[in-house]
Amino acid sequence: MAANGAKSNTMPHVNRINRRALLRYAFAAATTASAWPLYARSQPAMMRAWEMGDATAAAQTGYSIRLVQRPVPEPGPGQVLMKVHATGLNARDLSLMSGVRIYGSQDIPTRIPLDDNAGQVVAVGPDVGRVKLGDQVVCTHFPLWVEGDWDDATMSIMDFGVNTDGFLAEYAVVPAQGLVRIPDSISSIDAATFPNAGLTAWHAVVVDGEVQAGETVLTLGSGGVSVFGMQWAKMRGARVIITSSSDDKLARLRELGADDTINYRTHPDWHEKVLEKTAGRGVDAVLNTVGIGEMERCLKSCASNGRVMLIGANPVARGAAADSESKPVGMQDFPRDMIMKGLTIKGVIVGSRCMLQDLVQAAADHDIRPVIDRVYPFEQALDAVRYMASGQKIGKVAIEVSG
Ligand SMILES: NC(=O)c1ccc[n+]([C@@H]2O[C@H](COP(=O)([O-])OP(=O)(O)OC[C@H]3O[C@@H](n4cnc5c(N)ncnc54)[C@H](OP(=O)(O)O)[C@@H]3O)[C@@H](O)[C@H]2O)c1
Repeated sequence: MAANGAKSNTMPHVNRINRRALLRYAFAAATTASAWPLYARSQPAMMRAWEMGDATAAAQTGYSIRLVQRPVPEPGPGQVLMKVHATGLNARDLSLMSGVRIYGSQDIPTRIPLDDNAGQVVAVGPDVGRVKLGDQVVCTHFPLWVEGDWDDATMSIMDFGVNTDGFLAEYAVVPAQGLVRIPDSISSIDAATFPNAGLTAWHAVVVDGEVQAGETVLTLGSGGVSVFGMQWAKMRGARVIITSSSDDKLARLRELGADDTINYRTHPDWHEKVLEKTAGRGVDAVLNTVGIGEMERCLKSCASNGRVMLIGANPVARGAAADSESKPVGMQDFPRDMIMKGLTIKGVIVGSRCMLQDLVQAAADHDIRPVIDRVYPFEQALDAVRYMASGQKIGKVAIEVSG
């Protein structure tokens, strides 16, 4: 299976396309701008923002984000100031807000969390040609990944909510090269769910998974990525089987378009149900949104030449069995199906700006709206976090920052 048909890297960590993007960004950021940013109209000097707080305190007391006043940041060369209209929560945000720090990243208590976003361009810095004042935009998760192959070097430079301030604030400065314009038919709240869960599922189903009409796709759980995966797979004309721990959620997922559903709690060996529902053949593609703990069952669910898209990074099969919560569950058997059935496992990481552009176009063309369980006002961000953590939701939890 070709990933985009793109050539593989000859230079470790830095491919040619992204290297150019990195150099362009570094040059723009390092060059002292003689020009001032151009503002739509005067913006306030101060803004409200939620900060992540202290990691140790968060680990002891639970989610410890705090609402503060901060100066509105000013866009530099190649950057724009976005008035944030909406943002949203993803699984990793809960980890970050509870004190977990990913890839050994800096613990900066003033870091503004969240990478989901949509808003309006209200000021442009020098050297910005891609967007203009007043545009409604969404910024991609890794804004330095414009097109082509993934380059993990971009992650350590700019990852919103981790090493760069995110979008749980009234304003955010973002690199213009990461922006995609949103058509009028898509609301800010809907668009704000695209950069993380929507794009990851798009990458898995459309780009790497290359799902075709008539194929069968299995997707795990009723979370943001899985439900988007169901929607993109249906858009491609596939049959979709989806799992959940709750019969009520499964009923709702059938209303939303799932062809078949399986309760993975009442059927811990749910792969047997998958085979039953496919007359023993198995599925063509799996979105493993859980992680290695469910990999063995994913492989056992596959038809010949099946592809498993590895998205979740949990070492345990969360929720599968009470005693599996705390101890890692790996592969129990030699994965002979990998060889006998010619299967592929492909790691998927969010997606490029070009993929996000295609996603936005497809959502507009096919009138596909994200499944948003609840929308919270900005002031109630902590309630949104707690609701997300309760596990009650289907799809996404969004936060409206400004109207
Ligand atoms: N690789 C990437 O670039 C990337 C991008 C985004 C997210 N992720 C990862 O992907 C995972 C899902 O993200 P998300 O935003 O969709 O999370 P989410 O919205 O919090 O959804 C998580 C869902 O997983 C389901 N689940 C838990 N244990 C399960 C199991 N054993 N079998 C099947 N489903 C299970 C639950 O569904 P029910 O409530 O229906 O039981 C839960 O609602 C997370 O680990 C996240 O970190 C990775």
